[in-house]
Amino acid sequence: GSAVLAGAGLFGRPDRAPAFTRPLPPAAPVGEESIVSLDLKAAERSLSLPCFGGKSLPLWTFTDAAEPPVARVRLGQRLNTHLVNGLTRPGEHVSIHWHGIRLPNDQDGVPYLVQKPVEPGESYDYSFVPPDTGTFFFHTHCNSVEQLGRGLFGILIVEGDAPEPYDADELVVLKDWRIDEAGTGFLPFLTNEGAGKAGTFGTVRSVNGAIRPDINLPASADVRLRVVNVDPTRLTEIGVEGAEAAVVAIDGIACQPFPLRSWRMGPAMRVDLIVRTPPDGGTATLVDYFAAKPVPLARLVASGPARRQGPFDPAPLAAGRIAPPDLASAITMPITFSATATGAAVAELAGDGAPLGPLCLSQSNLWAINKASWPSDMHQIPPPMAQLERGKTYLFELRNVTPHMHPIHLHGHSFSVLKSNRRDLPPHHADTVLLQPKERLQIAFVADNPGKWMIHCHIIEHQETGMMAWFEVA
Ligand code: C2O
Ligand code: CU
Repeated sequence: GSAVLAGAGLFGRPDRAPAFTRPLPPAAPVGEESIVSLDLKAAERSLSLPCFGGKSLPLWTFTDAAEPPVARVRLGQRLNTHLVNGLTRPGEHVSIHWHGIRLPNDQDGVPYLVQKPVEPGESYDYSFVPPDTGTFFFHTHCNSVEQLGRGLFGILIVEGDAPEPYDADELVVLKDWRIDEAGTGFLPFLTNEGAGKAGTFGTVRSVNGAIRPDINLPASADVRLRVVNVDPTRLTEIGVEGAEAAVVAIDGIACQPFPLRSWRMGPAMRVDLIVRTPPDGGTATLVDYFAAKPVPLARLVASGPARRQGPFDPAPLAAGRIAPPDLASAITMPITFSATATGAAVAELAGDGAPLGPLCLSQSNLWAINKASWPSDMHQIPPPMAQLERGKTYLFELRNVTPHMHPIHLHGHSFSVLKSNRRDLPPHHADTVLLQPKERLQIAFVADNPGKWMIHCHIIEHQETGMMAWFEVA
């Protein structure tokens, strides 16, 4: 199959280049256990980012900096996190979900399902050894539309996956901000129209907190860009103009490198790219091809002596450590993502631009998974969507019967993306996969992590209005 996603006829993308052939080196060796400590205090802080136009906003952050904290551990190291909830709004509890990390269930950060939520003034400790190398992130799993919207997230990098070092290693964090007209406060994070359709978008797009920043890189070099979409809503389709680029990892896990034409990323998805930068003084552009008109996101500015010669043939990352699914014995489960009757009505009304009156969202029932909508009261854990037998392979057939895209996230497992009825996909692992309208997408995984795990859309307004369920592995 082709190694790229089918896209509309968009200009500017290079023709498909031949696939790279260097095989993945074996999984990285696990180093000795030692401890990395991380102190996080969720609090409201008046802070400024370059994209705020000189003003400050009442961000909710985990540290005193406006930029998200970046935790780096080596494979084998234990991450001990002390979380304090310094928010003062009554009932504004927090937790941390370590997105994509296959950790023990009680560290997964889902309030009520696996832990008590951390109330204002309280603290909580997390401790785990990440089992996989790669690019991950973490975020609160409470009142997520507002808490993520205001900045409660961070990056987690597990190192040790690059047997042949690259010439640079840069984070590219994509996030929109919903800023009011005065530029000093936030617009409502959840709207009827957004929740019933594609989500409510921010007003300012940022890359690493800035609008179309320059990212300075060595020249004629193979550089690693870790692209992380932490936005609650926006889908992007990442491409590079003016330089060759390859995809080497998806959602943190190595894949056989393939040339990048463009790669669609829903909220919470990550992609690791290797870019061969231009010679000294040259530039390339990181582009979003999602809309009909490409949007430049950042300028890659190359300088200094050439680091590489010869054709672009990027070093692969070390293979992942995910157990291969046994497809011959897999148990198939259809999982359908739909709008509820209320959801369909809201989307239709919103489409007319008719005022909807007070939020009907307290009903929390716009979306459903297998016809069940997560109840609005988070204390009330609904019955599980499915019981999975530990050690067995499951094949989930994800069916989207809505006209919208849904980035579907499974907690606790990385799955193989097998095939779609609508597009060619390269073989890869993921923890979040973009389900396109009318698509049927097969994913498979070994249910090897016991516990209670969420499955939900990562467009946070969809998640918070019902498109969320859980399954138990026992
Ligand atoms: Cu990144 Cu349940 O979420
Ligand atoms: Cu969705």
